[in-house]
Amino acid sequence: MVLASCLQRCVRLLLLPLHLLARLGAWGSFYKRVFPYIMAKVAPLYNHKVCKQKQELFSNLRKFAGPSGQLTLLEIGTGTGTNFQFYPPGCRLTCADPNPHFRKFLLKSLSENRHVKLEHLVVASGEKLHQIRDGTVDVVVCTLVLCSVTNVQKVLAEVLRVLRLGGAFYFLEHVAADHSSWTYFWQKVCDPAWKYFGDGCSLSRETEKELEKTNFSELNLRRIRVTPYWIPTSPHIIGYAVK
Ligand SMILES: C[S@@+](CC[C@H](N)C(=O)[O-])C[C@H]1O[C@@H](n2cnc3c(N)ncnc32)[C@H](O)[C@@H]1O
Repeated sequence: MVLASCLQRCVRLLLLPLHLLARLGAWGSFYKRVFPYIMAKVAPLYNHKVCKQKQELFSNLRKFAGPSGQLTLLEIGTGTGTNFQFYPPGCRLTCADPNPHFRKFLLKSLSENRHVKLEHLVVASGEKLHQIRDGTVDVVVCTLVLCSVTNVQKVLAEVLRVLRLGGAFYFLEHVAADHSSWTYFWQKVCDPAWKYFGDGCSLSRETEKELEKTNFSELNLRRIRVTPYWIPTSPHIIGYAVK
């Protein structure tokens, strides 16, 4: 890990100009506009890789429909709307994302997935979902979001607040690798650069631990590898937790 720290310092040094731009607020406002275009290209490729896992994960969504048989679903960090294709017909959807520049991509995805019904589109971070009332949602979904949020605990507290009792939180997230692995070594080296080019994304987040600490009544979680081990985003957690 000494070598990882040295390399990480070198990366930080190379990133000094970017760090300065970020401090001045210029990088953030520029990259928030660019990132949706990047995700519009990357998300379909990623979906292709995890299509089977997502199909399997979302196959029991209906189980959590309310008494009327309708499923009220909130997706946090919706991005380009890459998950809509996996949602069941008639699903009543609320999308929350702090980046308004995703809107046009999300609307395109909606036009291609007419089986879901958009009820609300809110520009909000997962830490502050004031627009959504307590206990009103059957299912909350997060994919590749908890790596980017400012405060995972606050997001999970909001998830618990908006879910009705017996509702479920579905997740698919890339996470920190085993600390003794080469993947973790690369995660530590690449983290400072990844943060800038992944819109705040951290490669080495221990999301599994945060989920375990949250007051869910049931947690179904497994670790999977999505890409070869030398790719720093390869270790993932997938599953759902019940309130
Ligand atoms: C890597 S993209 C993933 C998008 C989409 N969920 C997917 O699977 O393709 C990360 C998303 O999280 C959003 N995001 C970043 N910080 C967030 C926060 N604090 N709360 C909610 N969403 C956030 C970004 O705007 C972006 O849409």
